Amino acid sequence: MSEESIIDASKPNAGRIYDYLLGGHHNFEVDRQAADRLVQLLPFIPKAARLQRWCLQDIAAELTQKRGYDLIIDYASGLPTNDHIHYIAPEGTTVIYSDYDPVVVEYAKEILKDTPNVYYFQADLRRPEELLNRDEVKDILKGRRKVAFVSWGVSAFLTDNDVAHVAEVLGDWSDAGSCWAFHAQGADANPNDPANMRVNQIYQQMGSPTYFRFLDQYEKLLQPWKPDENGYISLLKWHGFDESVMTEDDRKSLGPAGIGYGSYLIK
Ligand SMILES: C[S@@+](CC[C@H](N)C(=O)[O-])C[C@H]1O[C@@H](n2cnc3c(N)ncnc32)[C@H](O)[C@@H]1O
Repeated sequence: MSEESIIDASKPNAGRIYDYLLGGHHNFEVDRQAADRLVQLLPFIPKAARLQRWCLQDIAAELTQKRGYDLIIDYASGLPTNDHIHYIAPEGTTVIYSDYDPVVVEYAKEILKDTPNVYYFQADLRRPEELLNRDEVKDILKGRRKVAFVSWGVSAFLTDNDVAHVAEVLGDWSDAGSCWAFHAQGADANPNDPANMRVNQIYQQMGSPTYFRFLDQYEKLLQPWKPDENGYISLLKWHGFDESVMTEDDRKSLGPAGIGYGSYLIK
């Protein structure tokens, strides 16, 4: 990616907006303005962003320390700041991050520098096979296909066909015993809520439209993956979030689960 795009401060960018909402510094004035508009519409959004990001720390610990995975492939990673997977995963864990946004990838590489066993590639989750088939990734994997996938904070940006395609490809590619930490983002939110509709418009104007769906629709699309015995867990419960921070309006917009549900999917 050229230097040009990293200094393209003319258009707001979903990844940099998320960084701003998390309190980061990898963003421009135009991102901060778009983020402030989102917060005016849905004041819970910064808390929702932090909550979403905190879950990654639990996921990193659960996948490595409890479930024994030493290889994690994370799609739509955003910026690998010090609250991301590789910070929590024990030394020796291989983490392959990716994002489709070249600006995010450029910043991510700056952040990671030469962190051992941690990689960052540009890749589109809608075609997950492209990351898995890259020569550099094949070199890292050395034929290993029992892996833990993660896709967090992104599924609302995928169409139904995309979700079904990702599930099929990851299911076919991976060996038995693999796992997928999946965030059913926005599931059960109210698609007709005026604030949600306006937020969707803002993302659409940025070229990142969002798609609402209910949890049972997600479940159908995710075949052959199924949640483990813990099922789908509201993100509010996932991290022991203090639910009192949600107002009635937040609840109406974001649905009973807050910002969706997470699950460890198995085949
Ligand atoms: C809300 S952030 C989530 C980051 C991180 N996974 C987390 O949960 O904190 C969404 C990220 O997904 C990326 N993204 C959106 N659609 C994508 C796609 N089709 N393929 C890869 N990355 C995508 C964006 O560039 C952005 O960095």
